[in-house]
Amino acid sequence: MKYATITGLGYYVPDNVITNEDLTQYMETSDEWIQERTGIQQRRYFTYGKDTNASMAAAASRMALERANVTAKEVDLIVYATITPDYFFPGSGFLMQRELGMDGIGVIDIRDQCSGFVYALSIADQFIRTGTYKTILVVGSEIQSTWIDKSNQGRSVAVIFGDGAGAAVVQATSDPAHRILSTHLHADGRFAEDLYVKDPGSSRPNRSATKEMVDEGGFNVVMNGNAVFKHAVVRFTEVIQEALKANELSPEDISLLVPHQANIRISDYVRQQLKLPEEKVINNIQRYGNTTAASIPIALNEAWEQGRVRPGDLVCLAAFGSGFTWASALIRW
Ligand code: UT7
Repeated sequence: MKYATITGLGYYVPDNVITNEDLTQYMETSDEWIQERTGIQQRRYFTYGKDTNASMAAAASRMALERANVTAKEVDLIVYATITPDYFFPGSGFLMQRELGMDGIGVIDIRDQCSGFVYALSIADQFIRTGTYKTILVVGSEIQSTWIDKSNQGRSVAVIFGDGAGAAVVQATSDPAHRILSTHLHADGRFAEDLYVKDPGSSRPNRSATKEMVDEGGFNVVMNGNAVFKHAVVRFTEVIQEALKANELSPEDISLLVPHQANIRISDYVRQQLKLPEEKVINNIQRYGNTTAASIPIALNEAWEQGRVRPGDLVCLAAFGSGFTWASALIRW
């Protein structure tokens, strides 16, 4: 019987730190408002000419491969999640493949927004358990800073997001004691426009990208923050419970919950619903903001580096985001 296990983790965050105070240059906001509503103190922005979505992912992947003691040539497949690719197409996974010299292997380019990493991990888990592949690189990478509207109009979105990348090497094992136990994926497209970027869109009268679209704000992130918040707190809890039930486990069995870093108030609410003590939930949104598909692997990396993920631990990953999408993964480390 084949199982999938995570054998290496890596991440990269750009060195350009943007504090809440820095944002007050562009919009009417305050450190107090941002911290009180989201918990965020700072985030990272990429540096033009130095970082790209693919280069950040490559840096994260190199670290993950090294820690897994796996060479680039041993990787059978890349599953790459991002909503902010370097090109409209092809996806950044292909650019990262080129940079890492992994020519010839398949690249699955997925979006799935804030749930992207868990969706990607689920795909890797399936391919390994069917025996198709032995070593898969799972990546989440985002450059949000060039998409957000930093004027007053976009401030409720702009203050939340940051840039970064995370990666995991997922490998086949026959050891049932250390493996991905299950993954659970959900979506509800009825809420697609509650968090979306409309343009560039293909179903437009003439061209898919025009100056009018830019002027009308079609390229900006539109978010119904209240709706996202209300659905998130319900779906996060639900999908974690679903994973536990599928494995005949309960919340007290969780060693560490790694939630997508959407808002510290969302994570706190979920933690309270599950009656988990503070030390069992990872929060690093204070330093990185919401990095969409990169947030879970970055948080998991930091937890692992801090010795908070040990062999035998029950680690739960959970996400909610645009789509709406929500997902969980339960891992016996
Ligand atoms: O991965 C999923 C990604 N998205 C999320 O997780 C978002 C979930 N939602 C949220 O986190 C919250 O809804 C926000 C943090 C986005 C907003 O917090 P809120 O408590 O829902 O605030 P609000 O949008 O209801 O706005 C309250 C007030 C408004 O002013 P008035 O109308 O009461 O005078 C806003 O104009 O706060 C104002 N406001 C700001 N003030 C200072 C909105 N953004 C800002 C800002 N700085 N950045």
